[in-house]
Amino acid sequence: MNRIALIVTIAALSIGGPADTLTGRWVSRVPNNDGTFRETIFVLTQQGTALTGAIITPTSEQPFVDGAADGDTFSFASAPATNPRRTLYRGTRTGDTIALTIARPGRLDQTLSADRGPDSAGRLPVRAEPPALHPVPDNGLARTPPMGWNSWNHFHGQIDDATVRAIADAMASSGMKDAGYTYVNIDDTWEQARDANGRITTNRKFPNMKALADYVHSKGLKIGIYSSPGPFTCAGYEGSYGHEMDDARTYAEWGIDYLKYDWCGAGRMYKDSEMQAIYQKMGDALRTVGRPIVYSLCQYGRQDVWKWGAEVGGNLWRTTGDISDNWDSMTRIGFGQDELGPYAKPGHFNDPDMLEIGNGGMSDAEYRTHMSLWALLSAPLLAGNDLRSMTPETVKILTNRDVIAIDQDLLGRQGRRVRKDGDVEIWTKPLSGGATAIGVFNRSASEASTTLRCGDFQACGGHRIRDLWAQADRGAFGETYAVSIPSHGVALLRVSK
Ligand code: GLA
Repeated sequence: MNRIALIVTIAALSIGGPADTLTGRWVSRVPNNDGTFRETIFVLTQQGTALTGAIITPTSEQPFVDGAADGDTFSFASAPATNPRRTLYRGTRTGDTIALTIARPGRLDQTLSADRGPDSAGRLPVRAEPPALHPVPDNGLARTPPMGWNSWNHFHGQIDDATVRAIADAMASSGMKDAGYTYVNIDDTWEQARDANGRITTNRKFPNMKALADYVHSKGLKIGIYSSPGPFTCAGYEGSYGHEMDDARTYAEWGIDYLKYDWCGAGRMYKDSEMQAIYQKMGDALRTVGRPIVYSLCQYGRQDVWKWGAEVGGNLWRTTGDISDNWDSMTRIGFGQDELGPYAKPGHFNDPDMLEIGNGGMSDAEYRTHMSLWALLSAPLLAGNDLRSMTPETVKILTNRDVIAIDQDLLGRQGRRVRKDGDVEIWTKPLSGGATAIGVFNRSASEASTTLRCGDFQACGGHRIRDLWAQADRGAFGETYAVSIPSHGVALLRVSK
């Protein structure tokens, strides 16, 4: 063997395995079009025709099954053949590159190429032990549920500085700001790597975060940002792991007013049972940077977060997985929140996820149901649509002052289900001054009618009814009050003395 061939062989061995087998770490780097890459690592071990290994993404590491190799072609799968959601990988190796075809049920095949290492997302940093628990003092913020906008539901990774500025403009000019919407929140995909001092940097979609924050503030609005307690965020971007204090300081320097802190990649470092301590870490960090920053926990309602979210300094905590812009998703989440009612209070709210109103997947009646439910639930009202191009009806739904007042009521109590007759559900929420909000929902495919009795709502004798979507006073609440509600619609009433 000549000297060069020897060096090549040693190099190949040292980064994974002998160059003539599949054994090794194969790294695929797909550009995100913002100067960052998304890495997937295929860890393969070949023994004859048997192939074992794992697929590593920034947020997960999963062993694969049914691996087989035949010369330079091979295949493996994400799950056993009996699993209907199994993903099949078929590949061919040419030297130090593998070409993969990925087949998912119900989707077009995807192709990917991967080279022998090195990789970064595949290698985890040293684990820092979670701190001992202690209560983080209340930051005094969010006495009513936060209101604003978040980029994820509509824009996902396609969000940048110019769009955020235009959203802030639209929030101010559309009447949203006047109605109480304040926070302009940038979700995942703004991040880039850290500099030599460990300071987080922004990718090319966000050239200057401080300048962007100044711009949003100049509109009389506030700005929010997103990170993860893990090494990587859900979209595979740089997380805050090991840099919690650095990042809290950087956010404060930029002028950030709100942080959504999303578990995802932390799942590769910590068990679910360690979440509370990990969230406490950032809660502590935010307390020390001398700037009021709303702290939003996002871990999909695991570990009964409503029982400890306030103790780690959280102002709100997600109670569910991600919402989608359709009736089933919205109602599964919204009508599923009843039992969490007792955990909401001023400064600390359950978060059934951001609004989908105006994104196009539901009818206006369904969006009114969405808005009414979220208001009764004292949920954060974070619009998730494109504020630059709203229909007049979307603006009306999002800015209905009477409905917003239900959400923002100073008692901060969360509404509960009080009756369910088939597809008709009645929810009530106690309001300050002895008033009550009543939502009568029709989850069925046809119109429904029902009769409310004043005695069921402690509203006999001189109580008055206002219909908040009709924006009309309905006079005195007599013995009974009859309502008819269109399919998937709602009657939202305020009853007061
Ligand atoms: C998770 C969150 C979403 C959004 C994305 C971003 O799925 O639940 O709300 O923040 O991550 O990657």
